[in-house]
Amino acid sequence: MFKKSSWYALMTILVVAATALSACNPAATSAPTQPAATQPAESKLAVGIVLPTKDEPRWIQDETRFKDALTAAGYDVQILFSQGDSAKEKANVEALISQGIQVLIITPQDGTAAAAAAEEARAAGVKVISYDRLIRDTDAVDYYVTFDSVAVGEAWGQYLIDNATGTGHNLYLYAGAASDNNAFLFFEGAWNKLQPKIADGTFVIKNSSEAVALQSKATLTRDEMAKIIGQVTTNWDFTVAKNLAEANLTAAPAADKGTVFIVAPNDGTARSIADAFAADKDVTKYYVTGQDAEKASVQYIIDGKQSMTVLKDVRTLVADAITAAVAYLKGSTPAQTNTYNNGKIDVPAKPSAIVTVTKDNVKAAIIDSGYYPASDFTGLP
Ligand code: BGC
Repeated sequence: MFKKSSWYALMTILVVAATALSACNPAATSAPTQPAATQPAESKLAVGIVLPTKDEPRWIQDETRFKDALTAAGYDVQILFSQGDSAKEKANVEALISQGIQVLIITPQDGTAAAAAAEEARAAGVKVISYDRLIRDTDAVDYYVTFDSVAVGEAWGQYLIDNATGTGHNLYLYAGAASDNNAFLFFEGAWNKLQPKIADGTFVIKNSSEAVALQSKATLTRDEMAKIIGQVTTNWDFTVAKNLAEANLTAAPAADKGTVFIVAPNDGTARSIADAFAADKDVTKYYVTGQDAEKASVQYIIDGKQSMTVLKDVRTLVADAITAAVAYLKGSTPAQTNTYNNGKIDVPAKPSAIVTVTKDNVKAAIIDSGYYPASDFTGLP
């Protein structure tokens, strides 16, 4: 998966796709003598990208990878950030529509609130690609570019199971924002793996009465998951995560500490939660999950402060988004292997695989794959 040859193949796809994207740009075709790298400022944008926030390294990764892929090929792409605000997100989409985009690539801040912006884009004849997070409750989504998010949650569950021998292990659950459809998919995956191990006594849930009330159910409805998520949400916010973990630890007797197993929903919140558990004198050892392979968490893994992360190779997601955009610009339809129901329609998608990263494979998965340079870290194994 991380062989150099695969990376070169991916880069080739990107360059070809970016070139095609550039060729589909009306300004580029109307001014053939103009070198791509110096397109006129007034050139019409073919594709606009809207990302949720600059406050999380995850989305800076996406911005960087998009820029690497597109501007290197001389294509002028605009990337706007919504800063956690659905009103700003809608204004961003409107600004891009007025610049003449034909394809919108958007990660909704709030999956349901973004429906209005998607519908405006659809009404303007723009193809809407939901990027990483699904826009909900509207038919105005053409395609969903994503990782296999249920597999992310399953990777967390499997990691914790692999490190638990015997029974009666303390389990703490934390979730993402309820406004993000992914929070449900991640939770579903974790529940798929952990519920049988809660039912057989391997794990005992310590911080969610809602989860305890549902622990005998192998499959949860969205409403049932919402009840649990409502109780253990971090809202994808580091401070909320820290405060919730501290409140849970304050409420827990010493017997519920010792060695603990923690489902943390992403790297940013995992670091906050890990710090809170590490600071509690009654916690002797903790296992904590994460996702995104943020640099700070890769360093935490090397240092033994975070147990695992899930690498969602953003280079692949960016390549998939560009390939889909190019397909639309050429009047065709992107490849589909799956669909995701968004509450209104089944949205076509082709989810990408994820990789579990621990101290054991961090060098191979993160450094040798070319994802980040070794010089970004200290103490690599
Ligand atoms: C993404 C994660 C990210 C989280 C918080 C989710 O929708 O899939 O990669 O950590 O949002 O931004």
